[in-house]
Amino acid sequence: MKASQFFISTLKEAPADAEVVSHKLMMRAGMIKRLGAGIYSYLPMGLRVIRKVEAIVREEMNKAGAIELLMPLVQPAELWQETGRWDKMGPELLRVKDRHDRDFIIQPTSEEVITDIARQELRSYRQLPKNFYHIQTKFRDERRPRFGVMRGREFTMKDAYSFDRDVAAAGRSYEAMVAAYNAIFSRLGLQYRAVAADTGAIGGDRSHEFQVIADTGEDAIVYCPDSDYAANIELAEALPLLADRAAASQALTKAPTPAKSTCADVAALLGLPIERTVKSLVLATDELDDDGSITKTTVWLLLVRGDHELNEVKAGKVDGLKAAFRFATGAEIEHHFGCKPGYLGPIGLQHPVKIVADRTVARMSDFVCGANEADFHLTGVNWGRDLPEPDIVADIRNVVAGDPSPDGRGVLAIQRGIEVGHVFYLGTKYSQAMNATYLDENGKPQLMEMGCYGIGVTRTVGAAIEQNHDERGIVWPTSIAPFSVVVCPIGYDRSADVKAAADQLHDELAAVGIDVLLDDRGERPGAMFADWELIGVPHRVVLSDRGLKDGKAEYQGRRDAQATSVAVADLKAFVIGRLAS
Ligand SMILES: Nc1ncnc2c1ncn2[C@@H]1O[C@H](COP(=O)(O)OP(=O)(O)O)[C@@H](O)[C@H]1O
Ligand SMILES: [Mg+2]
Repeated sequence: MKASQFFISTLKEAPADAEVVSHKLMMRAGMIKRLGAGIYSYLPMGLRVIRKVEAIVREEMNKAGAIELLMPLVQPAELWQETGRWDKMGPELLRVKDRHDRDFIIQPTSEEVITDIARQELRSYRQLPKNFYHIQTKFRDERRPRFGVMRGREFTMKDAYSFDRDVAAAGRSYEAMVAAYNAIFSRLGLQYRAVAADTGAIGGDRSHEFQVIADTGEDAIVYCPDSDYAANIELAEALPLLADRAAASQALTKAPTPAKSTCADVAALLGLPIERTVKSLVLATDELDDDGSITKTTVWLLLVRGDHELNEVKAGKVDGLKAAFRFATGAEIEHHFGCKPGYLGPIGLQHPVKIVADRTVARMSDFVCGANEADFHLTGVNWGRDLPEPDIVADIRNVVAGDPSPDGRGVLAIQRGIEVGHVFYLGTKYSQAMNATYLDENGKPQLMEMGCYGIGVTRTVGAAIEQNHDERGIVWPTSIAPFSVVVCPIGYDRSADVKAAADQLHDELAAVGIDVLLDDRGERPGAMFADWELIGVPHRVVLSDRGLKDGKAEYQGRRDAQATSVAVADLKAFVIGRLAS
């Protein structure tokens, strides 16, 4: 490929709306162009990378026994009504009408369509297992599209769906996908971690996210450096930090804490460690009648240690909060606590409140909490003596670095990650809703056991950049670089020798299947090098009259501090050797 026959469009500055490095660099390298919020054209340079990611994904999926098909972008509402997702999914689901006023959606994912295919096509146990996948455009009307292709509204996903006879077979399909994902992300040249994730209403322990490690990642991933424990922050279990509850040693005392409403400020004012304080969070649940009007509201007080944070996913697993909870309104709080937020606590309530204590809080003694009176806190608070034991004790907080690992094999560490893939055991959620059955050996219909497996193809491109860049630009892993090698001749249009040497190297590398680009644009060397460093091509060869005079060319890897002088006669073999290393 010659640059003059390709399309290169680099920018010195990134547009102001680009917040993260991958978005900035993709814009500057001319990989994507914005059309609307979260909607991008993939320009030729970007599309080359996307296609390389797709090719690796496709090869490994095929190797794992998955079968490619392609399901439509536009899907009739009826299927989504069958599973209830037409109503359950909020504005994230893009709904459209056709000329007959019929409802359709633009697919955010394809469980309904694949289950519809399966229930028609997979009739006998002899046809199972099957795993179908496609690489298709998705649309999710994200509340906050941002970070370029990392959280787009329109994006490309590989989504796969497995169908099995029973739970054990579904487990094997799941494990095959985990192995395929490991192969994919290794081949992509990325540093990643597979972490256990929450399974929501499905239950069980078969949900893993594949996270690309990057400081800029949106997700906190928890792992134990001394064992193989790894989970996302929603799931990672927080053990109690106290072995048992010490006996009360202080009297209950009301302490003035004027204008100190945070645990940190209260602890500082009282000269106590923040670990002695307890934070109050007030939730509410509503019981509804058949027409959806509220018949009863329960107010809940959740208590976590002052330096800890509530984990809403965990809170949602507490009995009584499972169906749905919300944060209590200001009026509900004043009614139950007789006080505004900032000084709330579990003692001296005006009306009954359900109290849920985090495991650590339940073992604290002589602690500090709000007095339910503005500008006052209570110190020396003790369970059983000053207030009843909590109604419920549960893990409701986020773990923090240094907490004991739930497997008992060390302490937890936290790093940031970008979720690029997700494998999920679905059970019979969709097969039941859509009556997708097969006939077993006895001719009896049985529900199919399903799994779904996504990889964000376009997000993976962004994540690769978040992980691999420097101040000059992108540093692609060779497997997904838009070009593996760039040949940069100096004076291509002036020097017959330079032109001949550059053409020859280009043709020789291209002939053995290497993705090589010859920059024949006639740019000044500085501008030419800056472009290719920005675009992130991993290997560069510079040819000039000065070097050729001594039979030499200059090679520089994208991560190399300096160029290496290489004899022109050895150039091809040298570059091929570098590509292999
Ligand atoms: N808005 C988005 N933009 C780009 N990629 C996305 C987006 N939402 C999801 N993905 C990708 O698709 C994969 C599968 O999505 P899924 O797990 O169903 O979504 P979510 O984690 O948002 O519930 C994710 O791991 C991610 O790589
Ligand atoms: Mg996910």
